[in-house]
Amino acid sequence: MSQLSSRHLLGIKDITAEDIQLIFETADNFKEVLNRPIKKVPSLRDITIANIFFENSTRTKLSFELAEKRLSADVVNFSSSNSSVKKGETLIDTVNNILSMKVDMVVMRHSSPGAPHFLSRNIKANIVNAGDGTHEHPTQALLDAFSIREKLGDVAGKKVAIIGDILHSRVALSNIFCLQKLGAEVMVCGPITLLPKHIASLGVKIEYDIQKALEWCDVANILRIQLERQQIKYFPSLREYSLFYGVNKKMLDRLDKEIVIMHPGPINRGVELNSDVADSEHSIILHQVENGVAIRMAVLYLLAGVR
Ligand code: CP
Repeated sequence: MSQLSSRHLLGIKDITAEDIQLIFETADNFKEVLNRPIKKVPSLRDITIANIFFENSTRTKLSFELAEKRLSADVVNFSSSNSSVKKGETLIDTVNNILSMKVDMVVMRHSSPGAPHFLSRNIKANIVNAGDGTHEHPTQALLDAFSIREKLGDVAGKKVAIIGDILHSRVALSNIFCLQKLGAEVMVCGPITLLPKHIASLGVKIEYDIQKALEWCDVANILRIQLERQQIKYFPSLREYSLFYGVNKKMLDRLDKEIVIMHPGPINRGVELNSDVADSEHSIILHQVENGVAIRMAVLYLLAGVR
């Protein structure tokens, strides 16, 4: 297979295991390019890409922009906070105005779940979902699984515990779909208030005791407490959350094996993850960020082939 089964990347739910393997194999090649003195290829020389961000981002936005530039695409960046959205312009009007400037692909982050899906039914350009509210963050899941494959050789058969604020996390849902499609076992762990009611229907294990989750897994993907999405109190205080669910070195020292520590970032240091783990040899957090560029290059390159 040399083409993706879809012309958009809206979510991991919509793509196949074969699509994911193709993205990984393409990313392997781009990772080799990124390690050369000249980190640029002419693959998307005739393509213009708009990065449209209605929510804050550091890693995803910079990583997409670098990926586009490494592929020689023309790039325009839109940030809603300093745009005419502030004057009341709608999403469709905003995007159609950007597309009328001959843009071929849109990378979009939006706070509303389904916003890129809605857009995909109304515009001609390829769309990449860079995170839609609490729904999906497909390129994050791809780079996470790619990083596990790089560290442990394969994703199939591995046990991955996703720990923390599952309820508000688009990373959790995309990771569950991606890891299961690749043959991994997935557990979610957190306080009951931060686990969605119907999470078991996705075929994941559920654990409330974090030490047991760490004992079970090969990889712990620690998620950020998303206070900006929490309109009510889900736990008494950050201090209490940290006492019961914050991952620290003492917890890892109690294990009779080594586990891999991941976090999609940004980290609330001292809340869900202590610095003595985040910055330790167990952590592959900065490798995840590094791999994000190769994965996004692969996604954009492959989508350009199904225009
Ligand atoms: N992991 C992630 O999506 O980070 P940003 O919000 O900084 O893009």
